[in-house]
Amino acid sequence: MSADMTETEQVTEDTGDDVVLEVRDVKKHFPLTRGIVFKRTVGHVQAVDGVTLQLERGETLGVVGESGCGKSTFGRLLMGLERPTAGSIKLLGEEMAGLDARGLRRMRRNIQIVLQDPYSSLDPRMTVGDIVGEPYDVHTDVVPKQDRRKAVQDLLDVVGLNPEHINRYPHQFSGGQRQRIGIARALALRPKILVCDEPVSALDVSVQAQVVNLLERLQDELGLSYVFIAHDLSVVRHISDRIAVMYLGKVVEIGDEMEIYEHPTHPYTQALLSAVPVPDPRLRGHRDHIVLEGDVPSPANPPSGCRFRTRCWKAEDVCAKEEPQLVVRGPSGHLSACHFAEERDVIHAIDIPTSAADDDGSGDPSPGSVAPGPTA
Ligand SMILES: Nc1ncnc2c1ncn2[C@@H]1O[C@H](COP(=O)(O)OP(=O)(O)O)[C@@H](O)[C@H]1O
Ligand code: SF4
Ligand SMILES: [Mg+2]
Repeated sequence: MSADMTETEQVTEDTGDDVVLEVRDVKKHFPLTRGIVFKRTVGHVQAVDGVTLQLERGETLGVVGESGCGKSTFGRLLMGLERPTAGSIKLLGEEMAGLDARGLRRMRRNIQIVLQDPYSSLDPRMTVGDIVGEPYDVHTDVVPKQDRRKAVQDLLDVVGLNPEHINRYPHQFSGGQRQRIGIARALALRPKILVCDEPVSALDVSVQAQVVNLLERLQDELGLSYVFIAHDLSVVRHISDRIAVMYLGKVVEIGDEMEIYEHPTHPYTQALLSAVPVPDPRLRGHRDHIVLEGDVPSPANPPSGCRFRTRCWKAEDVCAKEEPQLVVRGPSGHLSACHFAEERDVIHAIDIPTSAADDDGSGDPSPGSVAPGPTA
């Protein structure tokens, strides 16, 4: 261990009472089976392997890591769409692990998901009105049948779409507008939390900014909490209050946005930050540029000790033998899971330009709107 490192026993951050989501040592291992007549389990894919974190009311937690690191599985666990292999997930204080299908359905009103590819997640044969209003078919008590059309039009208005386009089909909308449809649908049940799984990754950069702006406005107006998943750090900086960096099913570093971007201590975070292109050539050469080599190893057979060690330029013998714990390390005081955690001045991430107008020509963003639901 490095000499300047400070450790404490603390593994979770004290984020106060206003916690909407509390995740403790959650694991999701998918069985790997072989054989057709007799299915034998020959191993497990450790998609999520011991994640502990919290989400506060009104907060945005960015979750970042390369493809295959378990981000989507983590999001699905939060939604109750996957059952954890181990660990606890408390949504608004209620344990989700023990709930039956009915209980899960009830809880799922509070947490909804926005997916990456708006087109593939929308049924092309359904009208926008059918898509956005579909959650009311399952949760019939949220809006009386006769009020549904008006409710859906309100939702379209809230996300900046023209309510008169309620009878149009997804192919008649642009990519950014389709993502607005997905957001409107996610808001239909008036959830407290949105899991946004790479919501802007399939969009052009200029449209990404508009959708991020929209999500920020909705958060302010509706008091939502977000888990915002992305595979690169440039997308999440603007919107996130805190950021968790995931590698091979584990959180390797977590902290405030400033701690992660300005004082990263885990080599993986530093490498991810460095992968972001820097527009200002004067910055090049003054800071380290790290090239992350190789691919994420298979989560069915993760490296011993530190899972990042096969790609880490700082790895030593201890890294193969001892798993580094996620504890406070270094002067900035946030959690990092590296035996040799230390700050390094890397070329750091730039923001996407979110100052652009919150509109992609899809109609009024309706800044005065407040609530997505038609009934109190
Ligand atoms: N239903 C499943 N069965 C088996 N393996 C899965 C399943 N879902 C995801 N995985 C595996 O879990 C790992 C993490 O996947 P995922 O959560 O989609 O990561 P990410 O969203 O970070 O790209 C991957 O190796 C993926 O192949
Ligand atoms: S524990 Fe070792 S291998 Fe893992 S990130 Fe730190 S230095 Fe690299
Ligand atoms: Mg994913």
